[in-house]
Amino acid sequence: MIKQINQVFEQHFGKASICVKSPGRVNLIGEHTDYNDGFVLPAAIDLATYFICNQNDVNKFRLYSYNLEEYYETPVDKLAISNKKWANFLLGVIVQFVKAGKKVRGFDCVFGGDLPMGIGMSSSAALETGLAFAINQMGEFGYKKFDLVSFSQKAEHEYAGVQCGIMDQFAVMNGRTNQVIKLDCRSLDYSYHPFEMQDQMLVLVDSGVKRSLDGSEYNVRRQECDAGVSVLQKYNPEIRALRDVTIEMIQIHKKELDTLVYNRCLYVLEENIRVEKACEALDHNDFISFGKQMFDSHEGLKNLYEVSCPELDQLVELAKGVGGVLGSRMMGGGFGGCTINLIKKHAIGCFEENIIEHYKTSGGDSPHIIKINIDEGTHLVSI
Ligand code: GLA
Repeated sequence: MIKQINQVFEQHFGKASICVKSPGRVNLIGEHTDYNDGFVLPAAIDLATYFICNQNDVNKFRLYSYNLEEYYETPVDKLAISNKKWANFLLGVIVQFVKAGKKVRGFDCVFGGDLPMGIGMSSSAALETGLAFAINQMGEFGYKKFDLVSFSQKAEHEYAGVQCGIMDQFAVMNGRTNQVIKLDCRSLDYSYHPFEMQDQMLVLVDSGVKRSLDGSEYNVRRQECDAGVSVLQKYNPEIRALRDVTIEMIQIHKKELDTLVYNRCLYVLEENIRVEKACEALDHNDFISFGKQMFDSHEGLKNLYEVSCPELDQLVELAKGVGGVLGSRMMGGGFGGCTINLIKKHAIGCFEENIIEHYKTSGGDSPHIIKINIDEGTHLVSI
């Protein structure tokens, strides 16, 4: 893959200086908790986007998408939101360096890889963190990973219009092979937990329902959570986010909370508890309890948070019907994309058969089943 992308780079721009590998991520549990200052349990995976880059002397940022075969360029002093969606993820990152007072020299970049786009595996965070890493490297700016994560999140807010939390960019940047990250999204304290894949495996199933979080209900969910916080703050001024709220508190003030707002809050509070329980289960290698938390998480996402869709629900039901499937739920922002499934290795054949036989995408195609491994976060690789 690197070789092919590099060939394209050489055709367009000459010799490259660096290659950065930026992976996608899975999230085992803890969905829509990150922007509520809660807990998440993601991991970087072995599907990635590669960035082959070099600085140039033409005062332009010249960007080429290997997968889409599309080109975009802009003079360094004319950075602005473009009408090319993919370019915005990258331009938004460059802007963050400029805002921080850095002089970013023009560069050429060809990027591409095997990470699917728009199915909830954080292809956008991979774009942002990958380029942030590359710019930091080429400009020798000396930023720490944490700063690059923050630049990447801001790029998504400002240039992609999604008020995302920190999980995706954090996981993509800080992933470690065979370990999941328990992240406290308030303090950003984190710990790594080994995720044993001897007897079980993680499998994603793409529902085929394309999603994009900009202009979706994603930002509305954030507002609904904030609305709940505002009501509860009147009684308890130290509440800053749903992280500081208990289930008892929302029950006491249920009448003052709009029903939807109550449901959204209840989901988030329960999901934070599920992350704790899942981590405990993981520490005891108890994958049955772990999987149960995943199933319960899906129920909450479907009924209380309402970010699932019939296709994702069907995939979870089909997974449930197979012995050896320990857990299954929609993953990521929702409204389409994929499910994540925790499966005993011996059950994978039945799982695939059941899904392929009974699930058809809206276009009538068989769903895409993706077996993943947990891998290292964004890093330099040799060309
Ligand atoms: C998207 C966002 C994340 C997170 C998830 C839902 O992936 O980018 O910040 O909110 O949705 O858990």
